[in-house]
Formats: sequence, C-alpha cells, structure tokens
Amino acid sequence: MLQIDNIDVYYGKIQALKGVSLTVNDGETVALIGSNGAGKSTTLRTISGLLRPKQGSILYDGKPLDKLASHDIVRMGIVHCPEGRRIFGSLSVNENLRLGAAAQTDANLTEKTRKDVYELFPRLQERANQQAGTLSGGEQQMLAIGRAMMSQPKLLLLDEPSLGLAPLLVESVFDIIQQIKERGVTILLVEQNAWQALEIADRGYVMETGKITLTDRASALLTNPQVEQAYLGGAV
Ligand SMILES: Nc1ncnc2c1ncn2[C@@H]1O[C@H](COP(=O)(O)OP(=O)(O)OP(=O)(O)O)[C@@H](O)[C@H]1O
Ligand SMILES: [Mg+2]
Repeated sequence: MLQIDNIDVYYGKIQALKGVSLTVNDGETVALIGSNGAGKSTTLRTISGLLRPKQGSILYDGKPLDKLASHDIVRMGIVHCPEGRRIFGSLSVNENLRLGAAAQTDANLTEKTRKDVYELFPRLQERANQQAGTLSGGEQQMLAIGRAMMSQPKLLLLDEPSLGLAPLLVESVFDIIQQIKERGVTILLVEQNAWQALEIADRGYVMETGKITLTDRASALLTNPQVEQAYLGGAV
C-alpha cells in the first residue's frame, strides 16, 4: 500500500532522514520506534507531504506521493494525526470533528462517520458541546484521533498518541488503536512507548539517527535483545 524507497530528507542543511526505506501493507499495523530525534516524526511529515524528500520515492497504491499537495494526499485516504494533539481549543468537540471531515462532500456519510467516532469515544459524545481546550489531556488526544477518523482514513499516521498520558489512559489509547485496526484501517504508528506499540503491531521498524537499523515482525522485535536493551529498558 505504502512503499518508501531510500528517501533523504533535510531541514535546511541538516539531514534528518538518510536513505529510509519502509513499507506498509494493506490492513497492517506497523510500528516505527526509536529514541528522541531519530526521525520518526520527519518520516510521517514526509509521507503526508509537509516535507519533500530530496532523493528517493514514496508510492501509495503504486502512485507517487512526493509531488502531491498535502490536501490531495488526504483525499487519497492518508491522514496524519500529528504529535502534540493539534486541536482547536476555542471550538467545541463537535466543531473539531466537523473540521476533520472538511474534505468530505457526502453529508450522510459524514453523519454516519460522526456516529461511528462517538461510538468509539463515548467520552467525546458526552462532551460534544464542550470547548475542546477545556478537555483533559487524554480527552484531547482522543479528539485528535477522532478528528483524524472523520476523514475516513485508509492509512492512518499516528505520531505518539500516548505521549504525556497517565498509564491508565495510555492503555485506553492503545485499546482504541486496536479497535481502529479491527475496522480495517491500515496504521503506521510512531511511539516511544515501544513495548505497547509492538504489542499491537504486526511489524516494526527501529530508527536511529535518521536510518532504519532493524525491521522484523513485531513479535520478533519484542524478544530481540538489541531492541530490549535500547528501547524496552531491559526486562519485557
Ligand atoms: N523544523 C525543524 N528544523 C530543523 N531541524 C529539525 C526540525 N524538525 C526536526 N528537526 C531535526 O530532525 C531530526 C529528527 O527529528 P524528528 O522530529 O523527526 O525526531 P523524532 O524521532 O520524531 O523524535 P521525538 O521522539 O523526540 O519526537 C532531529 O535531529 C531534529 O532536531
Ligand atoms: Mg517525533
């Protein structure tokens, strides 16, 4: 479904990605793990068209993405849920969700998706008219994911959905990702919370300073001593 081949990405003169290759197959959940500054967010930003690779190619269903505008990439079904929950604090929960469906033209379908999102996040439904900025951190994260779901992604790019959440909420976010996966959405999941990400992923990639250093089935990475040492803090 998504095929990234040998991309180099720069911020000015600084090279953030060095020959990164990665594939995501239809229906898969793929985890991209690695320490701070490894290039995980840069990878997602490049897929969604916010950054351009200087070299290499990105194909989606066989079509090149790297010349398309971000909004066209969204229309193709690739939706990016960025780091740090970018919700609109002064708008209500409902209005935030409506903005997520801005590219949708079919009102009936949008209404159906909204019901679906509220089913996934009953807490958001209870707070439909609440100002989004007054939601708790965990609720804001749910809203960010819910808004991404409103554009009916085929491929969902999630950047650190569990960041800054208390352990119990981390659990519920991973629960929700699992449910989204069960609805047939393909997911590329960036996480520092490597252990939990690999628990729900089919495959994983380990990134270090702009390069992919390891890739395998998620179950194999979970027991790989190299991963255990570096990202899982020893004992699994
Ligand atoms: N806007 C920017 N301008 C210049 N350098 C940047 C910019 N954004 C990121 N970088 C650099 O690119 C590298 C990769 O950053 P990136 O945000 O992709 O890392 P990450 O793996 O997502 O890290 P984290 O886990 O901390 O979110 C880092 O060295 C970072 O300092
Ligand atoms: Mg990041």
